[in-house]
Amino acid sequence: MRSLTPIAILASGRGSNFDVLARAAREGRLAADIRLVISDRADAPVLEKAARLGIEVLHIASPGRGPEDRELHDAQVVAALQNRGVEWVVLAGYMRVISHVLLEAFRDSRGFTRVVNIHPALLPAFPGMNAYRQAFEYGAQVTGVTVHLGELEVDSGPIVAQAGFSLEGCRSADEVEGRGLEVEHRLYPQALDGLLRGRFKVERTPKGRLRVLPS
Ligand code: GAR
Repeated sequence: MRSLTPIAILASGRGSNFDVLARAAREGRLAADIRLVISDRADAPVLEKAARLGIEVLHIASPGRGPEDRELHDAQVVAALQNRGVEWVVLAGYMRVISHVLLEAFRDSRGFTRVVNIHPALLPAFPGMNAYRQAFEYGAQVTGVTVHLGELEVDSGPIVAQAGFSLEGCRSADEVEGRGLEVEHRLYPQALDGLLRGRFKVERTPKGRLRVLPS
């Protein structure tokens, strides 16, 4: 059986999650062949990081901000992914809302999408932007990180893995983020590796949502 799954990483910024995923792939802890890194931002540090590692990089700019622009943009992204034989799409700090065009191109016959995201909160708490700051400003005592599959409604898809951490002693949102990134960097390679190796099963919850469990 083939052991490495062709993946692409979509990211908009710094790329610390890209770093740990690329390292895990090099060290054989992530069964992935990272074929491509795509960013919507030409100046995203992640592009330079990936290029330095000899990974192909693409900047695909958005034509605009409306829903139709989103679909046009995603159609370009899908064409690039399909040309390179990508099977799983990994979002790592990709600050765009993705459309049905991308989701349906990567929908598995078992119902879920082969689009994975990491969100910096214990979903369904604190969806959207700046989730570590949201948790800090709300006064939460515990927050965390969620790895989930993509669906149309932002930050709503089936949960794959979650890990929490305490905010005790955190005096700023930046301190929360520092703690959270350590958790992200442990959780993402591990959860993604399980998905790529097919070590999971999918069930329906009593509310009809998909639940992804390790198997
Ligand atoms: C990470 O904290 C990630 O969880 C978050 O953006 C950051 C990207 O950091 N993603 C979201 O907020 C998605 N809604 P990185 O570029 O260093 O990986």
